[in-house]
Amino acid sequence: MVIIKSPREISLMKEAGRVVGLVFKTLEESIKPGMSTLDIDAIVEKVMLDNDCIPAEKGYYDYPASSCVSVNDTILHGIPSNKIILKNGDIVSVDIVASYHGYMADACRTFKVGNISERAERLVRVTKEAFFEGLKHVVVGGHIGDISHAIQSYVETHGYNVTRDYTGHGIGTHMHEDPNIPNYGKEGTGHRIEPGMALAIEPMVLEGRKDTRVLPDGWTVKSKDGKLTAHYENTVIVTKEGYEIITMYEGEK
Ligand code: MF3
Ligand code: CO
Repeated sequence: MVIIKSPREISLMKEAGRVVGLVFKTLEESIKPGMSTLDIDAIVEKVMLDNDCIPAEKGYYDYPASSCVSVNDTILHGIPSNKIILKNGDIVSVDIVASYHGYMADACRTFKVGNISERAERLVRVTKEAFFEGLKHVVVGGHIGDISHAIQSYVETHGYNVTRDYTGHGIGTHMHEDPNIPNYGKEGTGHRIEPGMALAIEPMVLEGRKDTRVLPDGWTVKSKDGKLTAHYENTVIVTKEGYEIITMYEGEK
């Protein structure tokens, strides 16, 4: 069941989204070779708590941290660790959810550590562009499948793959609500897009084959072939006129 948000609920989600943006701005200025993924988690937690938000991932199905920090071939749900040290040339995805008075905003960025290869650069760029291709189809009266199809086509045209194992989703007082938003699918299928929907649209892209595997820790998801992966996500509110992205900071490119 899709839950349509009231203006009051949307304003609370926007505050959560503002803090998510602030976290990304802080990380953009902080991520350096030599840091651990647990150092990143500490920054995420501090910025959220300092701004009256709760890191909603902590304790979600017993998840142990305030962020998911996924390096290179880890596509999702990397558990922050003081043993995972970032090195020059890595790409690191930071996926976070802030809750403000119970209302959530979810987003992810893939950051560059120092100077990265042309190959990694292209993957990160195409993943982000895929989100904006999907966004063009956030139109009242359209279908969720239009977003899915646009993301899949864009990614595959560039020679990459989308995961079939994880999807985007609705969001509100729960991190994961209806509708499901796969990164693959057919135009004209899925739920109709209506004003007041809150959508977490999140291309998760593999440089190589689409297959993933979960590590014995029960969380960390890697590409099976060991090739690079990238992830870009925003929470988007559907409006009568179109949409509003609530998890980007002012001036963010
Ligand atoms: N933020 C992720 C998403 O994009 C989910 C994280 S799972 C958690 O949907 F357990 F870490 F919270
Ligand atoms: Co999400």
